Amino acid sequence: MPHASFHFPPGFLWGTATAAHQVEGNNTNNNWWDWEQQEGRIVQGQKSGLADDWWGGRWREDFDRAAESGQNAHRMSVEWSRIQPAPDRWDEHALDHYREMVRGLVSRGMTPMITLHHFTDPLWLMERGGWEDAGTPALFAAFAGRVVEALKEYVNLWVTINEPNVYAYIGYLEGAFPPGKHDLNAAFRVMTNLARGHGLAYKTIHGQQKQAQVGLAQNYRSFQPARSWLPLDVWAARLQHNLFNNSMVKAVTAGKMDLLTSHFRLPEAAHTLDFLGVNYYTRDMVAFSLGAASQGFSLRSLPSDRAISENRFIASVPEGMFEALKWGRAFGAPMMVTENGVEDSTDALRPRYIIEHIHQIWRAVNFNWPVNGYFHWSLVDNFEWERGWTQRFGLWGLDTSTQARKKRSSADLYAEICRLNGIDDAMVQKYAPEALPGLFPG
Ligand code: FCB
Repeated sequence: MPHASFHFPPGFLWGTATAAHQVEGNNTNNNWWDWEQQEGRIVQGQKSGLADDWWGGRWREDFDRAAESGQNAHRMSVEWSRIQPAPDRWDEHALDHYREMVRGLVSRGMTPMITLHHFTDPLWLMERGGWEDAGTPALFAAFAGRVVEALKEYVNLWVTINEPNVYAYIGYLEGAFPPGKHDLNAAFRVMTNLARGHGLAYKTIHGQQKQAQVGLAQNYRSFQPARSWLPLDVWAARLQHNLFNNSMVKAVTAGKMDLLTSHFRLPEAAHTLDFLGVNYYTRDMVAFSLGAASQGFSLRSLPSDRAISENRFIASVPEGMFEALKWGRAFGAPMMVTENGVEDSTDALRPRYIIEHIHQIWRAVNFNWPVNGYFHWSLVDNFEWERGWTQRFGLWGLDTSTQARKKRSSADLYAEICRLNGIDDAMVQKYAPEALPGLFPG
């Protein structure tokens, strides 16, 4: 029986994404570990603990899972506090460990993508002011140089910084990430220094590896006015979009950052984007509110007419993925979807979420927009920051008390997608028949 299908171009990267602190375990020398020890910081007082025990060696079995299910790429991060445990010390054992991991990916036929900074910072760095300090960008570039030296034999896809907008927003305005500040000026300082750090790291990486492809991973949120007929809501949604989605990417392309009424010139960050990593999860409806001055006069909520995830963290809005790629394309760099997924311990929503979001990527690719890969968040359940273990994003589930992995049916679905390099009607029928009329109207 011939099948109707959507195919991706040959060479498209299919993988999952992970981050060091969320999977390694025992990352005792960074600011998140410290944060987890403080009362009231993490839901139900949960801790990263052993996480998925990747530092103890379980990356091997998880990389086997990824490779055996047809994935040809993996995005992972390296932990700065392990590699540079003190300002004047580099840990060669840690670098060897990461070298072994990336070799493990390559030997399993997977292209590694390495993130250099994924939310965590060494304790010593925070003691000297973290990303508020003007000296941090250069320290980060030096760290990047050390990592590239160690891994360049196996890696040429680099993400400098994961979601700098989320890091600055949640850590310095909302206060739910360390250092838990509510300080607009600090947030702006952090944003500009992150852009500088990216720019310096970009140059360092290229200085050591000519063929390197260097990008950053931007969290794109689809902001829509809650009441489309109300100009104040339209204004508020626009403001969120400019602040959250545009500011960092404009900095690393045009060398300018606009944050509300402040405008920064960042020549050291201009033209430092070989590819744009797009992390897309959900949409926010934005309503103007005079009482919400500190949040840009905006109240955000998830759209009420969409499927909502278990803990009300994500609304499934697949066309927001298309919107994100349309937006990203305007910056002129090729793109990768560096994260996309949904928290769903019972796998009730995930199969449909995966199919419909990948279908939107296919639409973009079909318009000949340069999208070269998709990394699902995530391979195995992992430690979800201030939400601890309450959110389960894995294709495989994790029992934290035994380290046992349990395959969810989405893992089989994703394996079929990776193997076909596309989506066909049979798999939609099998895993998410409710999505069939939307994708393959018979
Ligand atoms: C992203 C983060 C990632 C993970 C997912 C669910 O914002 O980059 O580490 O927590 O959300």
